Amino acid sequence: MHRITQVIRSLIEKQGIKELRPAQSKALDSGLLKNKNLIVCTPTSSGKTLVAELAFLNHFLNKKGKTVYTCPLKALAAEKYRNFKRKYPEMNISLSIGDPERKEPYLAQSDLIICSNERFDSLLRQESQWVNEVSLLVVDEIHLLNDVSRGPTLEILITLSKRINQNLQVLGLSATIGNPEELASWLNAGIILDYWRPVELYKGIYSEGEIDFFNKKENIKLEEISEDPVINLALTTIKEGKQALLFVNTRRSAEAVAEKLSHRSKSEEDAIQLSEKIEKALINPTEQCKKIAEIVKKGIAFHHAGLVQKQKELIEEGFKDKKIKVICCTPTLALGIDLPAFRSIVRDVKRFGSLGMYYLPVLEIQQMFGRAGRPDYDEYGEAILIAKNQDEKEELHSHYLKGKPENIYSKLAVEPVLRTYLLSLISINFLTTKEKILKFFDETFWAFQFEDREKLHHIAESMLYLLKDYGFIEINEEIRATKLGKRVSQLYIDPYTANFLIQNLYKAQTHDYNDFSLIHLICNTLEIRPLLPVRSREYGDIEAGSLQHQDYLLYNDQFSEDYLNSIKTALMFNSWLNEATEELIMKKYNIPPGELKYKVDKAAWLLYSLQEIARILNYTETARNAKSLNVRMKHGIKEELLVLIQLKGIGRVKARRLFNSNIRTLAHLKIINLEVLKKLIGNKTAVSIKEQLGISIGSLKDY
Ligand SMILES: Nc1ncnc2c1ncn2[C@@H]1O[C@H](COP(=O)(O)OP(=O)(O)OP(=O)(O)O)[C@@H](O)[C@H]1O
Ligand SMILES: [Mg+2]
Repeated sequence: MHRITQVIRSLIEKQGIKELRPAQSKALDSGLLKNKNLIVCTPTSSGKTLVAELAFLNHFLNKKGKTVYTCPLKALAAEKYRNFKRKYPEMNISLSIGDPERKEPYLAQSDLIICSNERFDSLLRQESQWVNEVSLLVVDEIHLLNDVSRGPTLEILITLSKRINQNLQVLGLSATIGNPEELASWLNAGIILDYWRPVELYKGIYSEGEIDFFNKKENIKLEEISEDPVINLALTTIKEGKQALLFVNTRRSAEAVAEKLSHRSKSEEDAIQLSEKIEKALINPTEQCKKIAEIVKKGIAFHHAGLVQKQKELIEEGFKDKKIKVICCTPTLALGIDLPAFRSIVRDVKRFGSLGMYYLPVLEIQQMFGRAGRPDYDEYGEAILIAKNQDEKEELHSHYLKGKPENIYSKLAVEPVLRTYLLSLISINFLTTKEKILKFFDETFWAFQFEDREKLHHIAESMLYLLKDYGFIEINEEIRATKLGKRVSQLYIDPYTANFLIQNLYKAQTHDYNDFSLIHLICNTLEIRPLLPVRSREYGDIEAGSLQHQDYLLYNDQFSEDYLNSIKTALMFNSWLNEATEELIMKKYNIPPGELKYKVDKAAWLLYSLQEIARILNYTETARNAKSLNVRMKHGIKEELLVLIQLKGIGRVKARRLFNSNIRTLAHLKIINLEVLKKLIGNKTAVSIKEQLGISIGSLKDY
């Protein structure tokens, strides 16, 4: 460790690090502490995080500037934050993963800011001064540049950060890139390549009762506890006293497999408390909360984007504490999180996309594999695919076990993406002339990789005129965003969607419309997709719904293929706003649990955007309607509960209970007897409400 200073050395030695790993030594040799840009492309668990730590300690101790550490997932950012905060108390470290609109002035004082990619993007758009002081940008899991939905954000934020700070050091980390040279040369970076892993990871394929490791390790014959190979693999892992992560391709499958496993397992003493915590993570536990709690009691869990953050964290902690033995999850858990899985079982290697089923890239499968065999937990790990027969086994072997990760390609040149970013960069006055705009796009990975500047310039120019036609920018000597354009950009919606909303809001000023019309309107935006498909036996019902609302629709495209689907989706939201239970909605509209919450959040955000746009256009009444719908959407309530819902601790269920007991105003709540209130909504909430209404606990005895 001779190349690092005494101070840095003692800081990392305090954590028990005795020796540097190959990836770390090579990074030091390649100028990590000399401001050199680097792409570290080494296996999962090889210690890339410490490379980043050495770099940010160097920037911090030598007062070079701030470090921004971006991660693709909030959970990953939160994990890094907890670790770094514990390890480096002398640094001012912040975690920033909130809403795009959130302001966090204290970030100006931070030495190290850990955020999700999307959050850093929104921080850049907020034009905070401190952005100029960033001297090191760490991009964890940088291969996500290849991701259609998240890659462009990442690409823009790297390009933009480099433009803002000419001396910025960029450090990209990834276990799986087929073409690191190309990426490195775009970033003007050195490459650290190494294949050493601290713990061996054996890759095998399970089929016909046996795991074949292809001569890397002796095959394992498994006892047959269940006929279902996935269940069998999971149950035998538990029986051996080990833990597994089980990857499937949808949230619904994750829940189904977890449920099936839980039926085959006994309740575990130490999991019961955890199960209670998970159930109570929301003030008003939903059906899904109850379901996950039941499963966790058996030492099993599911984990996907439909769970709330708190629950995901509890599940991850539960797994680390060995209270949970198996987590059935979607691939979101595959990125960089340090979990003690002995086995990583990947059931689904295919996923449904717009062109039907397709094989997952090697890159993604390797990420899932890499969750097993983490140092500190096991002597080795096992990564297992499942094959139905010999043919499939051979195919999986040659494609996934022997295959090398794919090259990554820029996904920037997708029109919705380009117009969104173009507006954003104009809005923050970063790009103020056509020349600057073209030059900026010339510096992207897209331009570097495809070398077809002409095409890119052509796309950029046509986008520019589109934004002008929408009224979001003005092109004079300088290019400037209008007030409306600026707001659209801050709202994080596609300019195309914003224009669609504006056109229809305009119609609303002369056309009869109701709440359903606004809900249906947002069901016609790209953001709310995929729409709920109408099944053949539902046609009658949905057509009846359409007839009932048809005359009031603002956007009525009855000849489009999606028309009935958009009506069905709007009817689903309508049930939610009319306080149908989640269970009923899930059954009636055939929507999986996590999906409902996800859609409701999206719809609430679009209604907020609608409200904001209407406000700027001075459509006061429409803005008011959209505002009320936004709150109702967040909580799933009728208009009459809007007053009660303002109180913390009151959700749709408790608000309804109060209302039905004739307690409908804050004034009434203030004077009502505390004991009566406790009976209605529970002791804790009752006391908290009295406090929120300005009545101190001491004086409560008088009631
Ligand atoms: N020099 C070292 N000595 C001992 N332990 C180390 C050393 N460097 C890293 N570790 C430990 O190795 C583990 C894995 O490291 P890390 O999370 O950085 O992996 P990674 O390379 O980022 O993998 P992934 O691609 O999966 O994100 C951590 O628990 C870390 O504390
Ligand atoms: Mg990592």
